[in-house]
Parts: sequence; C-alpha cells; structure tokens
Amino acid sequence: MNLTLKVWRQKDAKDKGGLETYQIKDVSEHSSFLEMLDMLNEQLINEGKEPVAFDHDCREGICGMCSLYINGEAHGPDRGVTTCQLHMRMFKDGDTIFIEPFRSKAFPVLKDLIVDRGSFERIQQAGGFISVNTSGNTQDANGLPIAKPMADKAMDAATCIGCGACVATCKNSSAMLFVAAKVSQYSYLPQGQVERKERVLNMVEQMDKEGFGNCTNTGACEVECPKGISLEFIARMNSEYLGASVKSEN
Ligand code: SF4
Ligand code: FES
Repeated sequence: MNLTLKVWRQKDAKDKGGLETYQIKDVSEHSSFLEMLDMLNEQLINEGKEPVAFDHDCREGICGMCSLYINGEAHGPDRGVTTCQLHMRMFKDGDTIFIEPFRSKAFPVLKDLIVDRGSFERIQQAGGFISVNTSGNTQDANGLPIAKPMADKAMDAATCIGCGACVATCKNSSAMLFVAAKVSQYSYLPQGQVERKERVLNMVEQMDKEGFGNCTNTGACEVECPKGISLEFIARMNSEYLGASVKSEN
C-alpha cells in the first residue's frame, strides 16, 4: 500500500517542532508499524536526510518503550496492543497517518517521537519495590501460600509495562492508572506488606511532584491501555492511600 505520513519532527527539547509530510510506497500489510517506520528511515537516509528518532526495544509488547500517538490514539487504532504490535493491515492504501509523540508536561519531548519518561522511573523509585531479602536458595513455591484470587489480582496489576499510554490518553495527563497498578501489585502479596503504607504515600507524592494531572474518572486510560489494566486498581489505590493517611496521623 502507498501512504502519506505526517510525522512530528523536533530537533531537540528546545525546538518548537512541527509535522513533516512524507510519501511511502509498497508497504506490506503484513509488516508492523515500526517496520514501516524503518522503511521510512531507510528512504530518508538514502535521500541524505535525518532519520526519524523513535523509541523501541523489545518489539514484543513487553518493554513499554514504543510510545507513539497514531491518528490521535495512543498506540494507534488497534486495541490491547502496543505500537510495536500494531500491524499495517489496520490501515488501507491511500491513508494519511498522523504520527506524534505522547503528549504530557511530565513527558517532555527529547527529539522527534522520543519523550523522556523519567518521571515514571522516579515514581517507581519512590516505592515500587520490596525490601525482602532474596539471596540464598529459591523458596519452595508453596512455602508462602497466597490465595489464588489475590495472586491473580497481583499478576493482573503486574502486567503494566509502564508505557505511559494512560497518561497520553487522559485529558488531564493523569498517571493514576500506572501508579495504581504498581501500588496494587504489591498490596495483594505478603512480601509487599512491609512498606505498604509508605509505598502508596511516597508514590502518590512523587506522582504529584512530577506534574501529572488529577483523575476525573473519564476511563479513557483503561480503554487505551495495551495491557487492559482495570480502573478497579485506581479504587484500590485510593483505598490504600486513605488507609495509610489515617494510620500515619496516629
Ligand atoms: S497502566 Fe497501561 S497504559 Fe498505563 S503505563 Fe501501564 S500498561 Fe501502559
Ligand atoms: S518495543 Fe517493547 S513494548 Fe513495544
């Protein structure tokens, strides 16, 4: 198929940036979106032009690096997939595709389609860990019984890959879905109980410091999340936060 691409180009963090138009020919419907961008970059290099900078690593929907806003949707028009899992069969010959970076004050654009998601790292560092000693032999799997429904909930929350689509999609640039997934993941497990109170207080405090907006329950984050993280976890985080705030005043 032949396509017109409108791609956000920005030299560096200070540059104002803008959309550039490119024509690309003979794209296979079986190729992935990132392979199509690879084709564009080969074309640009052959023409002596600067290739488009975009983030990617695993290309398997695991690392959360590929953060593109495609035709006005985080990770593009498909559901439950990251940008690297998006296939060109979702588009048709003659289409015009708009490709932009994720937009949020807390995710400043570094170059072209690459944003700095260090704010997510700092939230994780504020409490997304456990202090259990893991040295020595691996424990028996049944040495620390965990009820199946709790283990399932923890696993559901743990599927968050920190891609930031929830932030990019939210009209308030709220990071609540991401932080809720990280807080909830540990709250269901015995290993997460030691820092349970400090974790939620510190992660929420860091989230606010980073300049993310407030949640107004639009639910857009859940719709665009490639891992199907549920809004239920936001309710869980609010309850964790309330419990920790009340206890910390005693
Ligand atoms: S909650 Fe979903 S959209 Fe947000 S960072 Fe995690 S995986 Fe990405
Ligand atoms: S490149 Fe790793 S999730 Fe897309």
